[in-house]
Amino acid sequence: MRGELDPGCVLCTGGLPASWVLSYTDGDPAGEGTRETMLTLGNGYLAARGAAPEAVADGVHYPGTYLAGFHNRQPGPDGGEESIVNLPNWLPLTFRPAAGQWYAPEHGRLLHEHRALDLRCGLYLRELLVLDPAGRRTRIRQRRLVSMAAPHLAALETTLVAENWSGPLEIRSGIDGGVRNTNSPAEAATSRRHLTGIGSGVDGPDVIWLTATTTGAGHRVAAAARATLTGGEGASRRRAGGTEDVAQVVTLDANTGEQLVVEKTAAVFSSRDAAVDEPLAAARDEVRRAGSFTRLLAEHTAAWRDLWTRFRLDVGESHPWQLPIRVHTFHLLQTLSPYAAELDAGVPARGLHGEGYHGHIFWDELFVYPYLNLRFPELTRALLEYRHRRLTAARRQAADTGGDGALFPWQSGTSGRDESPRCSVNPVNGEWMPDHTGRQPHANLAIAYSVWRYWETTADLSFLAESGLELLVATARYWAAAASYDPADDRYDIRGVTGPDEYHDGYPGRPGQGLDNCAYVNVMVAWVLGRAEEAYAVVGRHPGAVSWRTIAVDDAERARWAHIARRLRLAFLPGGIPAQFEGYRDLAELDWDRYRRRYGDLRLLGPLLQTEGDDPNRYKISKQADVLMLLYLFSAEELTALVRQLGYAFDPASIPAIVDYYLSRTTHGSTLSRVAHAWVLARTDRRRSWEMLLAALGTDLTDPAHSSTREGIHLGATAGTLDILQRCYTGLEVRGDVLRLNPLLPDCLDHLDCVIRYRNRLIGLRIDHHTVRFTTPPGADPPITVLVHERPVELAAGTTVAVGLHRMPAGTVP
Ligand code: BGC
Repeated sequence: MRGELDPGCVLCTGGLPASWVLSYTDGDPAGEGTRETMLTLGNGYLAARGAAPEAVADGVHYPGTYLAGFHNRQPGPDGGEESIVNLPNWLPLTFRPAAGQWYAPEHGRLLHEHRALDLRCGLYLRELLVLDPAGRRTRIRQRRLVSMAAPHLAALETTLVAENWSGPLEIRSGIDGGVRNTNSPAEAATSRRHLTGIGSGVDGPDVIWLTATTTGAGHRVAAAARATLTGGEGASRRRAGGTEDVAQVVTLDANTGEQLVVEKTAAVFSSRDAAVDEPLAAARDEVRRAGSFTRLLAEHTAAWRDLWTRFRLDVGESHPWQLPIRVHTFHLLQTLSPYAAELDAGVPARGLHGEGYHGHIFWDELFVYPYLNLRFPELTRALLEYRHRRLTAARRQAADTGGDGALFPWQSGTSGRDESPRCSVNPVNGEWMPDHTGRQPHANLAIAYSVWRYWETTADLSFLAESGLELLVATARYWAAAASYDPADDRYDIRGVTGPDEYHDGYPGRPGQGLDNCAYVNVMVAWVLGRAEEAYAVVGRHPGAVSWRTIAVDDAERARWAHIARRLRLAFLPGGIPAQFEGYRDLAELDWDRYRRRYGDLRLLGPLLQTEGDDPNRYKISKQADVLMLLYLFSAEELTALVRQLGYAFDPASIPAIVDYYLSRTTHGSTLSRVAHAWVLARTDRRRSWEMLLAALGTDLTDPAHSSTREGIHLGATAGTLDILQRCYTGLEVRGDVLRLNPLLPDCLDHLDCVIRYRNRLIGLRIDHHTVRFTTPPGADPPITVLVHERPVELAAGTTVAVGLHRMPAGTVP
């Protein structure tokens, strides 16, 4: 009956709104890790994977509890390895009729299980019907939340009904400190234990607590849980648990058909929290004071309601994209909520949903900020400040590689030092192999790009003056020093680097040694040098604006930047197509048909070739958008100007051919790839663009075979897809201090409805194929002028203005 409707199940029969609810009635073990990731609850500070309360890490299930930015370093070669820490699990709760076995995934028969995530209020609902070997049928209903109103609190409400039996029942509620980091294969290999010094205790009749210390820096974490019971007769409690866990067992008499409700409320604190002197005292105090489940739920729901008002992105309740859009928004906000703005934590590539990539920070924020800039720019600012606080580490990284300025590492964590692994597991054959992906210095270009786009969108001068300019200048310096001058050609070369495409880390036979004159890198460098100069000029016009005077850039340095920005070398393929790097044209073409026949799905083409003893560096193949990233990040006009600025001819009419050339050689082995291509194709092939977007919307949701979702969501794709809708299909850009819209919805959308925040003004947008309607809230704000297809439209406070759109033919550059 599992997987079928159960007339007794409130979730099966409750008529939950399909566009707001992620629902699972299946339970195949292979997909469980993915479902747990998608059912993760979090609030930007604390997150808990959607594992069942009775589950332990057993290869199928993986309870995971994380705090944003809470990492631990294990000793080892090259300074050891830093990972996000799987923290004590506050969820454990199970039951047994007297003389039975504790209910666990492997005991008893699960007649029915239905899990649903109600996105409106961040509530995880679960209903199951269990038959034990003695024929006793017990129905369990659970509601779970991780509070968006009180970031340290989480709660689980369990209702048990003995359907066909009565008698003594035991309920066990615990906190498990015996957890390890084994969510991803790399961690499982060493089964890392990040916590030590477990201590536990009981406060009064209903509170248990547990503390632990990280093995590296000795950070402390504390969890406390309060369990209260309603219903049943003659309840008594006893302490249980071993050296690594603490639990309470409640014994009572269950009557047939009677509802027994256990409310478990948990609090988690750490010694890294602001305004907390002692985490255990804080956790005990927090659970003692916490209200009932009903009260916590009401406050949590109100907080989510506010978030949804601010992050609304509607395409129609019955539209098939509405649910994935909300799932993406939900998981983005659970990772980067307003609480995240108060923490010292970056943008983790896999959210707070698992341990993939050890919880490290990559360049993926590049795909996240553009969406946040127009919704909650304070978050972008806080996350860029996180980078700014790691500028010293980035300067050291640059110095250690013989460079100048600052080099943000490819992967990093707490301190900002390089955490890129030297070896990783080949996902095809499970073998360890050298990992050269860390040689991607373009991470600092992504940060510099983000600084400028944030400034352009918000005009936040204090940020630019206090942090942004310094980041831009340090990046410009790094690249200016990395560029070597060839007087014979009057050209600068940047050698030995890799771009975003991880299938190419060197020339054939020289893996890991990098490539010369990557188009992506060189064009980005030319742009960043220009923005550093511009930022210097902007801040210089505001002599009171803090620290700019300490950023001494003399005329000679600026003149060199200007020269490099005009003379960086690019290589080209026939037809004026920029070559991914110098020498790319000499690589072999892959026999795509042969490989498709042999493997079908080629997303893992690189590792597949390595498994065959071949080298991906030999071929004209790409894991993800590389040259085409330039069309993702720049408009056609900007890119044309940049290439021409470098002294090369560039015809924007060649863009469709460039897109075709690289797209046909790309395997989308990174989930970021489809986002970039959905954007790029929006200019040339709208149908393919939305097909690409549709696939990207399914990255974590509809692709359980892509097993890495069990190690966390793909945050870049999660946010990037929303941004395609918000900025790409609306043609929304801020240029020259003006907000512009050039809407061009794909045919599959009737309308798009959202609210953006532009320079502290909320603007409601409803766009269909004929009209864009602006709504502004009442207030004393002066009118604001926006351009719609270059026509000025004045928006006064408290008005609704509708503007007709002349529809552009397909293929037109918007
Ligand atoms: C991609 C990178 C990305 C990383 C983390 C890799 O597969 O190639 O571009 O930064 O995943 O998301």
